[in-house]
Amino acid sequence: METLRTDCLVIGAGLAGSAYALQMARRGFKVELLALDGPLQANSDWAQGGIIYDQAQDPAALARDIMVASDHTANPAAIDHLIREGPIAVKELLLDELKIGFDRGPAGELDFTREGGHSHRRIIHAKDATGHAILAAVAHRVDEQPAITRRSGWVAIDLLTLSHNSEDLTDKYEPLTCFGAYVLDTSTGETVAIVAKKTVLATGGLGQIFLHSTNQPGSVGHGVAMAYRVGARLMDLEYVQFHPTVFAKKNAPRFLITEAMRGEGGVLVNAKGERFMDAADPRGSLAPRDIVARAIKQELASSGDPGVFLDLSAMKPEFVRDRFPNIYERCLSYGVDITREPIPVVPAAHFACGGVHANLSGRTSVQHLNAIGETGCTGLHGANRLASTSLLECLVSAKSAAIADAAGMAATDFRLPQPRLWESPTREADPVLVRQDMLQIQHTMWNYAGVIRSRRRLTRARRILLELREEVQSFYRGCRLSRELIELRNGIQTALLIVHAASLNPHSKGCHYVIEEE
Ligand code: SIN
Repeated sequence: METLRTDCLVIGAGLAGSAYALQMARRGFKVELLALDGPLQANSDWAQGGIIYDQAQDPAALARDIMVASDHTANPAAIDHLIREGPIAVKELLLDELKIGFDRGPAGELDFTREGGHSHRRIIHAKDATGHAILAAVAHRVDEQPAITRRSGWVAIDLLTLSHNSEDLTDKYEPLTCFGAYVLDTSTGETVAIVAKKTVLATGGLGQIFLHSTNQPGSVGHGVAMAYRVGARLMDLEYVQFHPTVFAKKNAPRFLITEAMRGEGGVLVNAKGERFMDAADPRGSLAPRDIVARAIKQELASSGDPGVFLDLSAMKPEFVRDRFPNIYERCLSYGVDITREPIPVVPAAHFACGGVHANLSGRTSVQHLNAIGETGCTGLHGANRLASTSLLECLVSAKSAAIADAAGMAATDFRLPQPRLWESPTREADPVLVRQDMLQIQHTMWNYAGVIRSRRRLTRARRILLELREEVQSFYRGCRLSRELIELRNGIQTALLIVHAASLNPHSKGCHYVIEEE
């Protein structure tokens, strides 16, 4: 087994991981940046709506909106930090340095849109592909940095800790400390130990453990599962946000229909054309996501229909085509002309509001281990995230962590130990069983731990998942590692953690909604 040594190991090359890598490289540190796939296969790339830029507006109103969307559970310190640091990060990196092509008005002024839960227009956007515009530009800067080695198709297997993976037996008496990770290079099938002074979990979300999701393939909570296995503190895992609107036509894939469409005047209606959201919440179609997703589920349960619709008839066709060109084309390719007919939509798993507990500098409860972006949980989102805070959180958490790490690494001398060697067995796992096990996780989570939960559903989910975990563990112990097997192992672990957290919390708040049983 090969061993690589570096200053920073960043697991995940979405916006949080790439922005952190850039910050550290510019401060003179060597970075290994692991991408599950190519540089743009990250959830950040698929974020359509936009990013909050509230500099000239009303920060107190933004704080209020984040707190209200969270069902009054968010961490005020995390909100203050985002509000203070967010505009600086957007201006510095996105506007001044990268000159992202955000949409502008006739006089060149930034155009602001709105989404659910926002009291006014404060979101800047690049048509309906804001995340892509930002991540592509950041990834380009990463490519220019000789201090960063981006490794595509390298999948982290487990974190290295002094107590478990050091050759020096006296290390086990040290405080819980991370010094890198075992990683699978999927192109060669070899395992590599990457030993690092700082390890950063930036693995994005976990939506793919649900049957329907807006997330990229592979988003199974890798960071959460790895952190759990080394004993890191996790929190708020029951709060999985379901985006209210993904495309839902028979025989077509599910894909995100941005909330900005509702911000620009789109309205949710049922199959009879009735605006059912008006009865559910005074904010109607622009209520926070947890409320809208739940109202859609309830509407579908009472009507028996397969989906509801997003009606864009209040917008001129030219505006729709110009403002939402990608969604327009994609829907058209599946036979829906959104300038003439409403879009069939349903909710899908979208964002983990909880994750690996981290302070405002990204530090977890394990020494030298950070968690940033969606993987970390500072309490910013509480029980439900406000729209268009995710890209902003990536930028702010990456920068804050890098500032703290650069200062800390210069001041401390962390001796990097020799990792224990470890090889995976050579027998192939049966791909049919691996695929089926993943499907079983997805169905179980969707049906029993989804938008609407009950104690009985969660108990059943736990029973199924515990049994499945036995199977998965036997694969893991006896078979050659592959990306699919790592995803399965982390997916089942993350699913069990969510079900456990949900079972322990009888209170409906934000995205965690538990019905009484008869
Ligand atoms: C959207 O455009 O609706 C999704 C972006 C986000 O989750 O904030």
